[in-house]
Amino acid sequence: MNVAVIGCGYVGLSSGAVLASMGHSVVCADKDRAVVESLRSGRVHIPEPGLQDLVASGTASGGLRFTTSAREAVGNAAVVLVCTGTPSGPGGHADLSQVYSAYEEICAVREERAPGLVVATKSTIPPGTTLRLRTAFAGKGLSICSNPEFLREGSAVRDCIRPDRIVIGSDDPAATQALTSLYSAFRSPVFVVSPTEAELIKYASNAFLALKVSFINEMAELCEALGADVTRIAAGAGADPRIGGSFLEAGIGFGGPCLPKDLAALIAAGGDCGVDMAILRQALARNTRQRERSLERVRAALGGFSGRKVAVWGVTFKEGSGDTRQSPSLDFAQRIARLGGEVICYDPALTPECNGGPQLETAGMAVCDDKYEAVAGADALLVLTGWDEFRWADWPRVRGLMRGGLVFDGRNVLPVDLLRHIGFEYMGIGCGVAASQGGV
Ligand code: UDX
Repeated sequence: MNVAVIGCGYVGLSSGAVLASMGHSVVCADKDRAVVESLRSGRVHIPEPGLQDLVASGTASGGLRFTTSAREAVGNAAVVLVCTGTPSGPGGHADLSQVYSAYEEICAVREERAPGLVVATKSTIPPGTTLRLRTAFAGKGLSICSNPEFLREGSAVRDCIRPDRIVIGSDDPAATQALTSLYSAFRSPVFVVSPTEAELIKYASNAFLALKVSFINEMAELCEALGADVTRIAAGAGADPRIGGSFLEAGIGFGGPCLPKDLAALIAAGGDCGVDMAILRQALARNTRQRERSLERVRAALGGFSGRKVAVWGVTFKEGSGDTRQSPSLDFAQRIARLGGEVICYDPALTPECNGGPQLETAGMAVCDDKYEAVAGADALLVLTGWDEFRWADWPRVRGLMRGGLVFDGRNVLPVDLLRHIGFEYMGIGCGVAASQGGV
């Protein structure tokens, strides 16, 4: 099938490359000339495992092409997938300007073609948006549907190849048929629902994940008060398949380009209909509180940040990703710098020259490309993203390099017993005094 993808970000590029690998003929369009030129020359701007290879093989076979021209992409397409960004706008509402502008471009090309072009939005759009797009672009011969994407950063290719589910928000049988055949090679359950239901499934999924994280973070605070270890609570409660053990890792809070924004957008969408999304508001509030109280714990342990040298390991929003957008770790580090701390950051996905590196230096922090160099002379080490290599660091060496002995484990990933044994003052999330003495 001839497929056009509008937008070459995480969703567009991963979906386009995977669909091409399944035998479809895919043309991906992006307005950013530099991105398109780089993709044409085989350089992928998104550091996702497997994506570079998939793009290279798609480009080599001719099944995957890149263009800056929506006309070229849409010209021969049977299905168009809109994958543009939907950043947070005023009042938490999603900013849909990129989505609308993609539809305008499609319509401009569309006028030269036969009616019935299937256009599905993969971007996360608030409930009711597809119906509003249909009104806005009525009479243009488009069959507009919703087809949300659930991929995670760090496993985007794997999630696109083996999605947990495919959601098709369509009430037009011909469009449903076209989208079903687009995904016929996938062995995932397919849910055909109304466009608004499809939009809600996406928001409900992200909101529920955020709720789980905020729930366990609240439990973590209680564990600290009661002398219990939250990781044991998560393991025990999560063993019930009705609850499930994933997304029960306590930490400094959730972040990234999706969860916080989608939660805010769903709260705003509820408000527009007169529905108070009280549980979601609390989840967002807990997320802010989690970060603030964690920062306060570190501040109190150090007796203030002024004049203190603080090493930070991990500034991306989660391990396995090079993305620092809405990163709780980055915000944490920036706040310490603002409170007078000397902050030296290390992250395996970051260098002083690229990703968030320059941004960090502008915010008054130093960036090291060696984790041991980062801790030299530090009063405290804060591990804020759960990269595997932190757990397996040479801890005696770290101890020898640091001036002070405080380690704050903001993701509960470090070998607690070893750290205590070699003389660190260990501070995790949700491990109370009794737990820290092995007494739960
Ligand atoms: C999320 C959804 O998982 C995905 O389905 C959707 O398509 C896009 O948004 P992503 O943004 O890649 O994916 O991140 P995710 O893996 O969900 O993690 C979000 C945040 O929650 C991260 O900051 C992570 O560190 C945090 N988190 C996650 C926790 O604090 N504890 C957990 O147990 C799980």
